[in-house]
Amino acid sequence: MDKYVICGGNRLTGTVEVSGAKNAAVAIIPAAILADEPCIIENIPNISDVSIIIKILTQIGASVKMINKSTIEVDSSKIMEPTVPYEMARHMRASYYFLGALLGKFNRARVSMPGGCDLGDRPIDQHLKCFKALGAEYTIEHGMVGLKAEKLVGAQVYFDIVTVGATINAMLSAVKAKGLTVIENAAKEPHIVDLANFLNSMGADIMGAGTDVIKIRGVDYLKGARYAIIPDQIEAGTYMMAIAATKGDAIIKNVIPKHLESITAKLEKTGVNVEEYDDSIRVWVDKPLVKTNVKTMPHPGFPTDMQPQMAALLTIAEGTSIITEGIWDNRFRYVDELRRMGADISVDGKVAVISGTDKLTGAPVRATDLRAGAALLIAGLIAEGTTEIEDIFHIERGYEEIETKLKKLGANIVKKAIPGSTLAKAL
Ligand code: EPZ
Repeated sequence: MDKYVICGGNRLTGTVEVSGAKNAAVAIIPAAILADEPCIIENIPNISDVSIIIKILTQIGASVKMINKSTIEVDSSKIMEPTVPYEMARHMRASYYFLGALLGKFNRARVSMPGGCDLGDRPIDQHLKCFKALGAEYTIEHGMVGLKAEKLVGAQVYFDIVTVGATINAMLSAVKAKGLTVIENAAKEPHIVDLANFLNSMGADIMGAGTDVIKIRGVDYLKGARYAIIPDQIEAGTYMMAIAATKGDAIIKNVIPKHLESITAKLEKTGVNVEEYDDSIRVWVDKPLVKTNVKTMPHPGFPTDMQPQMAALLTIAEGTSIITEGIWDNRFRYVDELRRMGADISVDGKVAVISGTDKLTGAPVRATDLRAGAALLIAGLIAEGTTEIEDIFHIERGYEEIETKLKKLGANIVKKAIPGSTLAKAL
């Protein structure tokens, strides 16, 4: 097992390039199952969640060719049995996209109940409600979700809450269903639009993605497509926080500034300067950071996946900031770790109160999930002395070459093997 060792105090300067979006890639790669011809997908991030998705695809019989480091060709014509093996899928959340994609293609699917970051209760009732509305029966037995439909027929689906995963699964399962499906109260995240664009480039008929009503008219045939995944909004946001926290001055390349608006707005409130260009932004700090309040919400609100990183920044902002988590029940597990570094944070349910301190100090800490790990990296970059972060497999699930990218920006960070540890069970 490895750990990151960071000596804090260096300002981040220079240029960093953002990779393709994790949460788009983990939906778009399984979506290639629906195509009746091979698809080429570009701008794929080299992260462990994507490797697992590709492994699952090949295990169920698809052929996946690496064309280069960030481009794959997926040919799903040889998939015979729409069952995803239990061990492969149960550790990651996005494995549930195989339910929608396999159901949409074969009218049946068997996939293990999804895992993923432990952020509190993560039911899949809205996914099942949608599959049922389209005509599928479901079973949950021995940890596996089974779906079966005689045929899929378009339906009206109203989601009780705004859910990214169920909105994506609704598109995947309805794209070849007979007739019209209308999804109401749909999620509007950039990766929802990206998936719709990918499916439409294959010949699907999806309208309204990015609004809260999505209309899908089923088609019989989906041709192959060549498609490039959007840049990762959360990776970009994480570098924005890291640059700001170190009082640095750097350019972040390969971004869609529009996707970063809610993050930019909050950073500007704390006194950070952000300048937008066509596909890059400059972030710099020339005055003391000040408090702000943040509430996480579905897009276009402030993303929950940026909440821990924002908290890390606010630990050293003047004044008292309040963070309210509006999506997940339990996304403050990283707070104990930040406290070890001298952060002054109290948590009551879904609300964290952060009193800015002059400095953090390095400490041994543990990444409790992916974005928590990113927050600890940011804290390590600003802390006095050395921070050692363990359980970094969480971080590597979602950030491509983060150590190399941070080093290039001037951070003092190395990855080291933990003496005496066995190989990480990296799933
Ligand atoms: C996606 O998770 C992301 N994961 C998460 O990113 C992200 O935090 C989340 O969306 C919200 O933006 C992937 O894209 C793989 P939801 P998802 O369905 O789809 C409740 C990261 O750090 N809900 O939008 O699982 C649920 O409990 C990760 O990259 C139901 O009640 O999230 C939550 O409170 C972590 N029933 C809310 O909806 C359901 O059937 C939003 O969840 C589904 C969800």
